[in-house]
Amino acid sequence: MALLNDNYLKLKAGYLFPEIGRRVKAFCEANPDAAQRLIRCGIGDVTEPLPPAVIAALHKAVDDMGARETFHGYGPEQGYEWLRAAIAQNEFRGRGLDVADDEIFVSDGTKCDTGSILDILGAKNKIAISDPVYPVYVDTNVMAGHTGPANEAGAYGKLVYLPCKPSSGFIPEPPKKHVDVIYLCSPNNPTGAAANRPQLEAWVKYALEHKSVILFDAAYEAYISDPALPHSIYEISGARECAIEFRSYSKHGGFTGVRCGFTVVPKTLLAATKTGEMKPLHPLWNRRMCTKFNGVSYIVQRAAEALYSPEGKQQVRALIDHYMGNAIVLRAGAKKAGLKVFGGQNAPYLWVRTPKGVTSWQAFDKILGDASVVITPGSGFGAKGEGYFRISAFNSRANAEEVARRLQELKW
Ligand code: MLT
Repeated sequence: MALLNDNYLKLKAGYLFPEIGRRVKAFCEANPDAAQRLIRCGIGDVTEPLPPAVIAALHKAVDDMGARETFHGYGPEQGYEWLRAAIAQNEFRGRGLDVADDEIFVSDGTKCDTGSILDILGAKNKIAISDPVYPVYVDTNVMAGHTGPANEAGAYGKLVYLPCKPSSGFIPEPPKKHVDVIYLCSPNNPTGAAANRPQLEAWVKYALEHKSVILFDAAYEAYISDPALPHSIYEISGARECAIEFRSYSKHGGFTGVRCGFTVVPKTLLAATKTGEMKPLHPLWNRRMCTKFNGVSYIVQRAAEALYSPEGKQQVRALIDHYMGNAIVLRAGAKKAGLKVFGGQNAPYLWVRTPKGVTSWQAFDKILGDASVVITPGSGFGAKGEGYFRISAFNSRANAEEVARRLQELKW
């Protein structure tokens, strides 16, 4: 008799975004007229076409694949040298940060890597996640059997939840107790908050003292506009000894459908064996990639490389400016509607307080039913997200303006 992985049976409901998708589909079927004017500000999926530099690189790479002399079969599992070098130089060394080419591992995105990283970490770690949180961190730990069952509020046993309160700018503070693995996401999905230097310094200090590993998800770093805010955990002294960083081309390169990102595993980052011996994680991640991954396609890596060309950089800037322009429009609209708004300044997400007494899912139903706008209910990101909803700024300008207008028409 084959046994299934019963950890999956502990998972609560569906993954948040498919669940929203199901509800929106049912709404559209029941209300075909409203469906005509539906605007989606739920999942953070980009709407604008790929930068022209990327399109040109894709076409050229396709042609390369069509000629024997330039054809590429299996590539290096870790990514082509030319892309790893471009990343290390443009993202880190060019900004004064010490990251070597071979500490970069090119992958198909941050969602996959933040889940897969559990392969190289032990099963007995005490794991801290913020609340609210990007659901992937929680669900992948449930799947790996690192948690107990969920309670009625949806909180899983054995996980340490770090509340993100408005009073601390929605950035979690290091706990009083010991934890081994810490997930941090900055700029944050879902709250749109970005950690400042002292906040990240406090986390690195904690991690070094506790010999913990920080899993730093910086998928939205390109959206930081405040020059005082760190873009990488490696801007903090000591982080090379305690942190893995995840990056993505999805949100600023428009790659949600192309799939490419990278993970930085410093060779100076150690973790303990069962007997307490400290060993580097870098060879383990390298081994994992070689065994379970055949690398990102040549064509896609050429597309990613094009983002670092002078034209590519300008075009990425224009995309970011476009989405952050939407965020300005949406913030103003939500404020005029009398709602309390957070985020949307260093991240493409607005985190909005529901009107008094309205739950996150009630707000979802109201905004969908009365305004034909899809948002994401805050409670889908954790118990502390209750009473909030998230608006994604990934849209056309016309849609952002229309959503801002419809929010002001709502009667709560
Ligand atoms: C989100 O909307 O939270 C993201 O698009 C999900 C993701 O990046 O996987």
